[in-house]
Amino acid sequence: MSFELIRTNIIDRVGWITLDRRDALNALNAVMVGEIASALAVFSANPDIGCVVITGSDRAFAAGADIKEAVDRCYPETFLEDFLASWDAIASLRKPLVAAVAGYALGGGCEVVLMCDVVIAADTARFGLPEVKIGVMPGAGGTQRLVRAVGKAKAMDLCLTGRMMDASEAELSGLVSRVVPASNLRAEAQAVAEAISTKSRINTMAIKESVNRAFETSLSEGLLFERRTFQSLFATHDQKEGMAAFVEKRAPQFRGR
Ligand code: CAA
Repeated sequence: MSFELIRTNIIDRVGWITLDRRDALNALNAVMVGEIASALAVFSANPDIGCVVITGSDRAFAAGADIKEAVDRCYPETFLEDFLASWDAIASLRKPLVAAVAGYALGGGCEVVLMCDVVIAADTARFGLPEVKIGVMPGAGGTQRLVRAVGKAKAMDLCLTGRMMDASEAELSGLVSRVVPASNLRAEAQAVAEAISTKSRINTMAIKESVNRAFETSLSEGLLFERRTFQSLFATHDQKEGMAAFVEKRAPQFRGR
């Protein structure tokens, strides 16, 4: 795959997307979001890939949607084009998605992080939704996903003041899975993604779907969804293999189905 504003590579069943627009702190313009969507579609279709990692540079994961691309927009075109709807391609990836975040993850950059399933942050990471400072508000899921991740009080604090929080506050708040020294970020993200990739693919995809269902439904409906999904895994080769391997005290050989 060859792109203008992102780089992609595959390491041991893990697909990597690196945002690569350093002169603009990886500001997410239409081209970049389109390229991310294309790369995700390719990784999604590749049965050898069990997990995807998205990352940026040392200085910025992404400093938001491209303000220079948006400054002259007016309401009719944003509505008619359904501006930002294309970002849904990130949230709708069915395979697990890991964010590896160093530096700024602001506005749309923070919203991409919120679309990811596991968030590994460097100790240099800074998170925020500063749209209020430029006359708008989060538009790629920030007000909805942040409140689910960190609760109302912290979400209001961040959205209404536009302030940034550092990696340790983000971890304490529940936005981040783990914080590591910046020099370990890629290795830690790869290790997490590999740990996911070596599991059964149908299983990890079912787990992602079930956890995400918790944000969409009542507890009783969610529990029913979980139980039926759990039961459905007994129709897979990998359930037979995983349980047999445990009983036989050997490593499982998953087929992803
Ligand atoms: N859009 C476009 N360009 C951006 C950008 C963005 N979001 N963020 C940074 N840049 C550009 C700057 O314009 C600058 O380019 P030039 O050298 O051509 O002037 C370059 O990146 C470096 O940025 P700074 O000189 O500003 O670097 P800094 O270290 O002084 O500050 C920063 C870093 C605090 C992150 C600052 O760049 C900043 O505040 N950026 C904007 C953050 C923001 O408001 N994000 C929200 C965007 S709106 C959004 O995301 C809507 C949504 O919900 C999807």
